[in-house]
Amino acid sequence: MSVVLPIGGRLPERDATLGFAEVSAGIDAALAAVTGPLTDAAEIGAALRALAATVAVRASVVMPGDADPDAQRGALQSAAPRRLSDDELANFAIYDDYFGVVRATLGAPAFAAVLLGVWAELLVDLARAQIGRDEVEALLRAFRAMLARAGDLATAGAPASEPAPAPADGASSPLLEDDGVPRRWRLGHYAFALAAAHACDAFDCVATSAAPERELATAALMTRATAAAQWYASEFPFEVYRTVVRPTMERSGARGGFSGTQNADYRCMEWARERAFEALFTRFGTVAAAWPAPAYAALMQLREMEIEAAEHHVLVAASKVRVDGSLAQKAQGDPSSAVAVLREKVAAVADDIAGRFDAAPPTRRVRACAVADVPAERPLAVTLAGAELAIVRAYGAIWACAALCTHAGGDLCEGHVAGNALVCPLHGAKFDPRTGAVLHPPATEPLATYPVTIEGADVYVDLT
Ligand code: FES
Repeated sequence: MSVVLPIGGRLPERDATLGFAEVSAGIDAALAAVTGPLTDAAEIGAALRALAATVAVRASVVMPGDADPDAQRGALQSAAPRRLSDDELANFAIYDDYFGVVRATLGAPAFAAVLLGVWAELLVDLARAQIGRDEVEALLRAFRAMLARAGDLATAGAPASEPAPAPADGASSPLLEDDGVPRRWRLGHYAFALAAAHACDAFDCVATSAAPERELATAALMTRATAAAQWYASEFPFEVYRTVVRPTMERSGARGGFSGTQNADYRCMEWARERAFEALFTRFGTVAAAWPAPAYAALMQLREMEIEAAEHHVLVAASKVRVDGSLAQKAQGDPSSAVAVLREKVAAVADDIAGRFDAAPPTRRVRACAVADVPAERPLAVTLAGAELAIVRAYGAIWACAALCTHAGGDLCEGHVAGNALVCPLHGAKFDPRTGAVLHPPATEPLATYPVTIEGADVYVDLT
């Protein structure tokens, strides 16, 4: 298995002596200790700093040179479902240049080094960043899942990268160099890129997985982590954003300016997601009831996470609009602005997955009677939309079933309720009013039953 990791080229390479499993186990244990209590900010900060220091010591991280731009474009084009335009590729290149993000297909060792290097820096600062506790937890969950997946990569026999020379004593990682880009902005985008890479990989595993729910769950977790990473990435003074980040990111002549939706990692996630959905719906069909329950539940969970993540991306963008007059202006009048696009995406995500299933047959929900109308020991006869029904009080609730006995058509509404069973007046057949099941012969076929809801003092029946 290989991962198309957005951070290549200037990749940190792992020290050949690093024992990944050992480091991973240590980090996981430390994370469990950190995320278990999560009660005191100072304690969390101290634990994270200790954890990050451990990681930094164990993982010797250096940064190789830049990758070939043609290779980068080729990697993106191969991930895309269609021919990418020159404009799209130019936008992607701007973003990538800005963060020093380069695409490459990696084996396990380099992947582990990137993961540890980025996170070692990020975890040190995470406890100090003014972001929500949910965001911190989302990032830590993603980190833990990345470690587990990297462990899988390590044991899958992926080709090892050439070991890079260890940095000189006291040398800092280039990730720490201050070149005018806010460190949180850069680190957050690395974390975003890592989460996006994992989401892509999980989506691409859906097609062949015997348990696609696991891959969907990972994709959901990583999708949520991208939003948390953006909160972290944007946690610096607004003035810096307005004067440093925004002018640098603006591409002259680009309608609507620049936005995260033009980030290649974001687009790669979209493409991989679509491939996964095509595979899932080809495999299980468009009838929700025909899906395996775990896969359907995981898909719905992904939908919830995607909606939540999209809403957070809007909030992050809106927090910058407050001080960025040009963006605020675009948000009001330009349909391609970042905020407008993101808002549309929230609405689209909410509809997208549900809209792929066949519409459920419409139900006809009809008021049947008042609760007080249903006697305790005999059924109440009602006619709803031409259907003859027996409304029965049993098991401390109210039930609705067909009024005609399946034995010889006896009128069950002329019968009675005994021991929670509906009894036919003709030959004594008994039915369970909850399920329609036969409890006593001579009937052998169950009764049709109908869902009942109580609203206030009224009984409603769904006629399908
Ligand atoms: S008709 Fe109901 S038991 Fe025969």
